[in-house]
Amino acid sequence: MDPVTPAPEIPVELREVRKSFGDKPVLQGVSLALRKGTTLAVMGGSGAGKTVLLRITDGLIRPDAGQVTLFGTHIERMREEAMLPLRKRAGFVFQGAALFDSLSVFENVAFPLREHTSMSLGEITDRVHRSLSVVGLPGVDDLLPAELSGGMRKRVGIARALVLEPEVIFFDEPTAGLDPTNARLVAELMASLREGVCDTAIVVTHDIEFANMIADQMAILHQGRIADIGTPAEMRASSNPDVRRFLAGELREE
Ligand SMILES: Nc1ncnc2c1ncn2[C@@H]1O[C@H](COP(=O)(O)OP(=O)(O)OP(=O)(O)O)[C@@H](O)[C@H]1O
Ligand SMILES: [Mg+2]
Repeated sequence: MDPVTPAPEIPVELREVRKSFGDKPVLQGVSLALRKGTTLAVMGGSGAGKTVLLRITDGLIRPDAGQVTLFGTHIERMREEAMLPLRKRAGFVFQGAALFDSLSVFENVAFPLREHTSMSLGEITDRVHRSLSVVGLPGVDDLLPAELSGGMRKRVGIARALVLEPEVIFFDEPTAGLDPTNARLVAELMASLREGVCDTAIVVTHDIEFANMIADQMAILHQGRIADIGTPAEMRASSNPDVRRFLAGELREE
């Protein structure tokens, strides 16, 4: 068993995080805190650095400077192997679902269990079926990702993120490429997860309508910094010109 520290009140905290690629600064001092029991939407235009921010938070990318605290532990300079027990406590839904094309739905969802646990096939089967039923997809074990609709692929990606029973979930653009009906279904699924499955999440999205449906807190990332952070109502009332332009659909990166 990994030594598991109790879930802290602030499972995720970033302080003055910076990241450049070559001479291109992407994050230029980002600070934010995710409180247990809340959903934080990080919003911003394409290329604003949302995916980079989420990957830094989960230790998949290292920042150049600043501090990243995951479940009370600094991870910014931690060795990869030392990070695994912490990463196991967070589920990651990748942009575009990122399923393994040659693996069945069952094997895609089972993958984290095979990587991170020594569960028996019976235990794995139970967990995979539980996860698939949470996302409303029973009976699709043997299908390949290519045989699923875009909305179903997103759900399988979410089932895979849930299978280790995480304390926090990171969602990267869970509605990208979905029509409004399927986007609403994902929003309803995320709301239902909060009742007992996982109540704490960071959701990266450029979809304002979706963020309004699911977020307790919204942060707007622009030019490498958080322009403003607050409840959806506070953001709508924000006097920050970048926030106003973003909410009006006028803010573009890249
Ligand atoms: N591994 C990398 N190497 C070089 N540049 C990168 C790398 N990853 C990201 N970038 C650059 O960092 C910037 C931010 O990328 P990121 O993917 O975080 O944007 P985003 O806000 O998620 O955009 P989108 O809404 O299109 O997903 C982009 O200019 C991108 O080209
Ligand atoms: Mg992205």
